[in-house]
Amino acid sequence: MVFKNTKLSSNGMACATCHTGGGSYQKSFAMPFPHKVEMAAGTYGLNSIHLDEAIQMCMAGPMAAKPFDWKSPDLANLVAFMTEEQKKFAKR
Ligand code: HEC
Repeated sequence: MVFKNTKLSSNGMACATCHTGGGSYQKSFAMPFPHKVEMAAGTYGLNSIHLDEAIQMCMAGPMAAKPFDWKSPDLANLVAFMTEEQKKFAKR
């Protein structure tokens, strides 16, 4: 539900708008975290990030929203969900 929630963004997007069916990721998503994500390296100069940080990056960037409070249940739920998405992605 959080993955599909367009109200989390300020621009009508949901995580699912870009990432349904493994879309918008590069090969890096198949690797265990922490790892290099091009967008984080290019935009923030971070050469290695954790999964929760990748989610916060997409909140601040593509979702044009405030990042989650680090203790928010939505962030915890997304970390759990994205871990499952990552397993599917790695098997493709
Ligand atoms: C407008 C499209 C868009 C939206 C909306 C979006 N993302 Fe992303 N996401 C991207 C792009 C582009 C990248 C960077 C890919 C790269 O540089 O390798 C990315 C990267 C990521 C990564 C890191 C992938 C890796 O290589 O490890 C994760 C995890 C992620 N997004 C989760 C989310 C979540 C969760 C949301 C919703 C809160 C979200 N994204 C919203 C486009 C989007």
